[in-house]
Order: sequence, then structure tokens, then C-alpha cells
Amino acid sequence: MVENGIVKVLVSEEEIQKVVKRLGAEITTFYGKRESDLLVIGLLRGSFVFMADLVREIKLPLMVDFMALSSYGDGTVSSGDVKVAMDLDTSVEKRDLLIVEDIVDTGKTFSKVIRMLKNRKPRSLKVCTFLNKPECRVVDVKIDFCGVDIPNEFAVGYGLDYAQEYRNLPYIGVLDQALLQE
Ligand code: IMP
Ligand code: MG
Repeated sequence: MVENGIVKVLVSEEEIQKVVKRLGAEITTFYGKRESDLLVIGLLRGSFVFMADLVREIKLPLMVDFMALSSYGDGTVSSGDVKVAMDLDTSVEKRDLLIVEDIVDTGKTFSKVIRMLKNRKPRSLKVCTFLNKPECRVVDVKIDFCGVDIPNEFAVGYGLDYAQEYRNLPYIGVLDQALLQE
């Protein structure tokens, strides 16, 4: 079933499951090959659904923590002004950090978090995103574990919102342009 306001499905529930399993396996292989003290960091709020699925596909001991950042108001264009609304509760020094995002668009959010967390002297830092919009990149960021590349369309569902709504859709859809107000 496709909800009101959604013009098409970009990533179905079945595809989401496959992608999450593939990412979980890649991450398990990567960290399983070395001694690691893995801390998986979800960026709120968008990553909460993906994060919950992903950690269950990582077959290694790990801890989780969350950080809240905001760059978008209720519109759809990144302001570029990324603020830390809630910081981590865990020390990251000498730990292996895996930052988890819902989507990388301009790259500004990721690059700010990476810079900030690298200053706290982790042993390693890798990044994982479920969705990637390569066409929209303004700041270059290396994505270590990438789910699905999508075109420049506004995606909602599976944690992603428009004006805080649609996060609970079990699939990723494209929102009707007529509903978007910048
Ligand atoms: P960036 O800083 O431009 O890379 O944007 C990252 C943040 O913008 C993400 O964590 C999302 O919250 C939001 N965002 C970017 N593109 C979309 C989209 O298509 N749908 C919903 N949120 C988006
Ligand atoms: Mg958002």
C-alpha cells in the first residue's frame, strides 16, 4: 500500500531488508578481522529505524549511542548550518566508531560530525549511510558502508521525514512535489 502524498516507492521493504543484511555482513567482516571496540553512533532522528535494523545484522559485540544534529528546518534544502542538539554520552577515546546516517545529501552533516569526533581521539572512525544522493554533494565525504544511491528527489520513510512526518513508513518513497514547500 502506498500512502497519501507518496508518488512512488524508491526502496521497497524487501529491498531495505536485503540492503541492511548486506551492510551488516560487510561491517561484521570488516571489524571481525581486527581487534575492535565498536561503538555504533546513530545520528538522530533520521537514523533510528535503520540503526535498529543494522545493529541486529552486525554479528559482533558492540555498544550504541546517539547524537542529535539538525541542519534542516522543516524545509527540504540544507541550511548548511549544522547544530549539535544532543551530544554522546559515551567516551570515544581509543574506540572504533561507526557513524550511522539515514541519508547523505550535501555531506555537510557528516563532515561536521567526522571532524568533531576525530578531535576526541577515537582509534578509528568509519561511516555508514542507508541512502546516498551523490548528485547533491557539496562537501566531499568518504562513505565506508553505503546502502543505496538515489537520484536528487526528496525521500521519506524508514526514518526519513518531511516536517517530522512520514518517518514510520516501512519503505522509502518520494514525496509529491506539490506538498514540498521550501
Ligand atoms: P546533508 O548535511 O546535506 O548531507 O544532509 C543530511 C541530513 O539532511 C539527513 O540526515 C536528513 O535528515 C536530511 N535530508 C537530506 N536529504 C533528505 C531527503 O531526501 N529526505 C529527508 N531528509 C533528507
Ligand atoms: Mg531530517
